[in-house]
Formats: sequence, structure tokens, C-alpha cells
Amino acid sequence: MSSQDTKTAQLSYDGNSYDLPVHVGTENETAVDISKLRSEAGLITLDPGYGNTGSCKSSITYIDGDKGILRYRGYAIEDLAKNSTFLEVAYLLLNGELPTPEENTAFTDSITQHTMLNENFRSLFLSMPTNAHPMPVMSAAVSAMSCFYQGDEYGEHEGDINTIRLISKIPTLAAWSYKHSIGQPFLYPKNHLSYAGNFLKMMFGNPCEEFEVDPVVEKALDILLILHADHEQNCSTSTVRMVGSSHANLFASISAGVSALWGPLHGGANQKVIEMLNAIADRGETAESFVEKAKNPDDPTRLMGFGHRVYKNYDPRAAVLKGACHDVVERLGIDSKQLEIGMKLEEIALNDEYFVKRKLFPNVDFYSGIIYKSLGIPVDMFTVMFAMGRLPGWIAQWREMNADPAARIDRPRQVYMGANERKYFTSK
Ligand code: SDX
Repeated sequence: MSSQDTKTAQLSYDGNSYDLPVHVGTENETAVDISKLRSEAGLITLDPGYGNTGSCKSSITYIDGDKGILRYRGYAIEDLAKNSTFLEVAYLLLNGELPTPEENTAFTDSITQHTMLNENFRSLFLSMPTNAHPMPVMSAAVSAMSCFYQGDEYGEHEGDINTIRLISKIPTLAAWSYKHSIGQPFLYPKNHLSYAGNFLKMMFGNPCEEFEVDPVVEKALDILLILHADHEQNCSTSTVRMVGSSHANLFASISAGVSALWGPLHGGANQKVIEMLNAIADRGETAESFVEKAKNPDDPTRLMGFGHRVYKNYDPRAAVLKGACHDVVERLGIDSKQLEIGMKLEEIALNDEYFVKRKLFPNVDFYSGIIYKSLGIPVDMFTVMFAMGRLPGWIAQWREMNADPAARIDRPRQVYMGANERKYFTSK
């Protein structure tokens, strides 16, 4: 109990007064503890969408939405994107500290040694329709890992084999879901390639010719994975925690997170951003007219990739991606119509009263879709890329919850608005 946890908040209700404990985090986030409110005052709280409800205490990721700050275990996302690698960031999220060179080598080697799938996974993929979206295929494949790897549900912190299996196999699962959708043969991982390089080879290589990994694409992909690696208690992470709170195993919990991420309001937004930019280009519509539609309360159109529940400033990941976008497009010599339209939409929206008043800024999905497209990633695979990046964060959050001896099964309450008691009768 830190010294700051001795503060209390007072609640007056129905002539009574209640002292509620107050918790203060290391960045001075302050929370009123309402866990005893029902037993002491007969009250619950109501917060649809959990917009202002803390579900847990966590030491993994810190976001300051007003200042546009994002840190993994205290390290600024800008520093990590510039200086680290995805596997080093995964180690940091999982273990709380950056690895020593020896630890980094050992972690990377253990990931490399588990990239292959049980050969029976072929039947799982081949049983799926080729036109299936890869996200439900991924969710099914991750859940199926519970069938292939039974028994040890949660190993020691350092030796948790299921964490290693998930991080090492998800690029293979992702690439196989894509290969199945285009009717091409599955390719096996190559241990001499980097994490991102292996994925690119399994995605775009074929048995008829050698595949050369483009270092520009490889580096851009590694940065994209770093930027997506964790984001505190977002929808899919909260799903992973909720499922894990019932002591469902890691694979089942992550599979649920993949499904939650698919939603277009969440990780599915990157695909919707590109579809939005393509539709504007195909219709020959001006950015100005599209923004007007997005502002119209009677029009369901939204400026996808804009707005965020927490960030009321520029999403720091979008800022990094905006720079990377230009680098990739320039280095690959791509004439990106989508980037041109995206920049125009951003310029208009950032100066428009509707967006300014609502503090709607570009989020991580606004530029990631443009980069993925420039890297040759198919649109249907964009959210799969998000899942690959978010995996170490999901696992770190699941572990943190499972390591907490006070953790209980998640079970929110409700305010009932239905019929009062009535006797059964029938006019039969
Ligand atoms: C991610 O939580 C995370 O951390 C998520 C994430 C992560 O890393 O895990 O950061 C990843 O999911 C990023 C968000 C990707 N989604 C999109 O880009 C979809 C488009 N954005 C929105 O649908 C919306 O902004 C949300 C879902 C992101 C946030 O929704 P909120 O917080 O519930 O806000 P809201 O829908 O209540 O909107 C508030 C107002 C409304 O207008 P009014 O009722 O005040 O008149 O802003 C408007 C909304 O209509 N609004 C938009 C808008 N986003 C909000 N209007 C036009 N275009 C938009 N994009």
C-alpha cells in the first residue's frame, strides 16, 4: 500500500456518508475504489463502455491521452520504435526489463526454434473456405492450439512454453491463412531469417523461386509490430483478461482477443481506412466532401482512423507511422494515391471545428493501413498484422492478471430495466 493510497473520497447518498479508498498510481492516475460500495451503501456504479472505469492495476503500459504519451514499461514508444526490435520489445513487455544481449539471444533462439506448426494444422486450414476472412481463421487456429498443446497451461514466468509457442507460431499461422486464401502452397519458416523476414518469406515466397527479403520492408514491418505491441486495457486486451479471469488457458484467451480486435471500431479500422481511401479515389470524391459526410450526424460515415477513447491528442504511434509512411513510399518508389488522400483528409480534419471540438486526431490505424498496402500486405491481412503485433501485450497482460493472487473472475453488475415480477398465465 503506497503512502498515497491512504487518501479517501467521500460519497453522500440518502442521508448517509461513505468513505471510499483512493488509489494513486506511479503517474498520479487517481482512482476511487468502489469494490465495497454495494455491501456498504447498496449501490453499484454504471459506466457503459467502461469509459471511466479502471478494471485493474497494471505496470505494463502507460498512456497519457491528453499529452499523447505511450510508454511500454516506462520506455517511450518513439524511443523503442527508433532503437529497439519487436522481439526485444516483446521480452520487455513480458519480463518488465529490456533483455541483456545474452537474454535477447536466448529469447530469440527459443522463438526461432518453435516457428513450425504441427503438420495437422494443414487440415485445419484446408477445411476453411478460401474466401474466409483471415481473422476468424486466425482465431480458430489459435484456439486449436489448445488441442495440439494440452496439459501445461501456465509454466514458470521465464519458461512458459505456451508464450513462446504463440509468439513464434503466429507469423506461420498468419502466412498460412493467407496462402490458403490464394490457393498457394504453405511455406515453412526458415531459421536463418529474422522474425519479420520469416513472415515476409512465408507470405510472399513460393516454392518455385528464391525469395529475397527487402530490408526496407523488413524494418518497416518490425516497427509496425513494435507500435502495436500493447496499449493498456483496450477492447481486445480487456477481452483477453476477461476470458483469462475464468482460468481459461492462454490459447483460448488470446483467441478471444483476436476476435475482439477484428471489430471495425477497433483493430479492424486499419482495413476500413484503406477501403475508405480507395472509395474516395474510385468515386473521384474530394476529401472536403467526404469530411462533411463524416461530420453529418444523420450520415453513418465516419472518418476511419480518426478518434480514440483515450487519446485526445495526436496518437504518438500515428506520428511515428506518418514518418515511416513517407520513408517506405519514397524508398520503394511507390506513387501512393491513398497517402495523398490521407494527408489531405488529415489536414482538413485537424483544422475543422467538428474534429477539434471533439478532440478527434489520427490514431494508429490511420497510417498503418497505407504502410501495409505499400509493403504489399493484402487488405484482408491488415488486422492480422495488428494481432501479430499485439500478441506479446495480450500475453503480458494475461500473465500479470494470473500472477495476481487477489485476481477474481470478472463479473460486472447491471441496472435491470426489464419487467417486474408477473404471474404466468396463458390464454390457451
Ligand atoms: C484502436 O482502445 C485502444 O487503445 C484501441 C487501439 C489499440 O491500440 O488497442 O488504440 C486501437 O482501436 C484505434 C481506434 C480505431 N477505430 C477507428 O479509427 C474507428 C473510427 N473511430 C471511432 O469510431 C471512434 O472514435 C472510436 C471508436 C475510436 C472511439 O469511440 P468513442 O470513444 O466511443 O467515441 P464516440 O463514438 O462516443 O464519439 C464521440 C463523438 C461522437 O459525436 P457526438 O455524439 O459528440 O456528436 O465523436 C464523433 C462521434 O460521432 N466521432 C467521430 C469519429 N469518432 C468519433 N465522427 C466522425 N469520424 C470519427 N472517426
